[in-house]
Amino acid sequence: MDACCLCTPWNLAVAAAVLCVLYVLSKQFVFRKGNPPPGPRGWKGFMEILQAGRDDSLYEAAWGWAEKYGDMTFYTVLGQPICILNSADIVRRLMGSDEYKLLTSDRDLNVVSEFAWYNGKELFFTPYNSQTRQKRTLFHKMMGIYGEGVDKFESVVGNELDRILEEMDTARATGQDIPISQILSRSLKIILYVLVNGDIDPEKLSLDVVDTMDRYDNAVNRMLDMQTLTALTFFPPLRKVGKYKKICDDVTESKIEAEKIMFEDLKSTYQEGKVRGIADAILHFQSQPGHEWLDDENVKGFLTATFFAAHMTTRASLLNMVLTLTHHPEVAQRIQEEIESVLGDRIPRVEDRLSMHYTEAVILENLRYVSQLALSSLRSAREDIHIDDQVIPKGTQDLEGRVQISVLC
Ligand code: HEM
Repeated sequence: MDACCLCTPWNLAVAAAVLCVLYVLSKQFVFRKGNPPPGPRGWKGFMEILQAGRDDSLYEAAWGWAEKYGDMTFYTVLGQPICILNSADIVRRLMGSDEYKLLTSDRDLNVVSEFAWYNGKELFFTPYNSQTRQKRTLFHKMMGIYGEGVDKFESVVGNELDRILEEMDTARATGQDIPISQILSRSLKIILYVLVNGDIDPEKLSLDVVDTMDRYDNAVNRMLDMQTLTALTFFPPLRKVGKYKKICDDVTESKIEAEKIMFEDLKSTYQEGKVRGIADAILHFQSQPGHEWLDDENVKGFLTATFFAAHMTTRASLLNMVLTLTHHPEVAQRIQEEIESVLGDRIPRVEDRLSMHYTEAVILENLRYVSQLALSSLRSAREDIHIDDQVIPKGTQDLEGRVQISVLC
């Protein structure tokens, strides 16, 4: 046979694909340096991970692994080492102790940060460094949920609470189902929009705002799906093809619309010395010495990352609370009694938390009991981490599940 026949583009493509598969499999089976924590290994482990990814059951699989392997589960996906932290103790040690915390503070960029969050110019998916610390200080200053800020926050939330209760009463009176997820999601968007804009005129809270933020929220959430993230991360050409291209285009397009209402409309009407909401608070810092790095993309990053960080998690925790109380009516009853004895008919204030011990305890327990976020990779190991005769290799992604979230809360 002529040797050149073997070099057709088709044969070369097949050979490249085979090499890729062999490379991926070798990463799955080759033993790493040191002694990594236990986890699914070899062919059986590979199939378990594949299955969990295919039928979207990583969470369930992770709980099984936690029982089998103890404090940490270590495995690799397409050559990427991953370590799930399974107990509060190990999370405290790795993320909170002086010995390890600097090694686990980085949060790597991912596809979503690239498309939606200005390639790390926000305060979530960033390596931990002096600028990150500066950004955190700025975030706390800009939120301003203290002093007069609390009164404003209470009034915004109080109005929304009235509106939600009215909507629920109408649905109940007319025998309709109460779409609690949509109601909460819409309300949270309104509250966040008002906090960013400082605009509390209900007339201006047109449906457009909620729809625009809904589109952006849904587009980013579709990209955050574990399978989609894996496909877009490991096979970048897919970003230009079929359904993956649509997912990417939706994020890019909905982001442009969201930027208009969350940033451009505000920047164009901003007046130095007048702070309407948190967008103005951060725009003010753009002209302050020492903040030269705070360009427009950083401001947009701050605002959109805050929107997602606040919206996704709060919506999930409220929905989880409703779900848990549905299963524990006796707890709901005790909360109701506390509300009636402390608040009566008036709207709650932030300071009421101090007198509502039972309700506060249920909220904290619920944060511990149910995961508020999908299992997704947040922190990464900056160096090899030696812990209890085991080594978590540099570059390992730490998946944060319900344990870490409850410890942080
Ligand atoms: C129940 C509600 C919430 C939950 C469960 C939650 C959970 C989390 C978690 C797990 C992290 C990552 C920490 C890590 O790196 O391991 C985080 C970070 C963050 N969250 Fe929340 N969050 C909630 C509400 C909010 C709200 C309301 C806001 C904003 C108003 C917010 C803003 C942020 C920001 C800015 C970060 C990054 C902080 C930094 O790196 O300094 N979160 N949150």
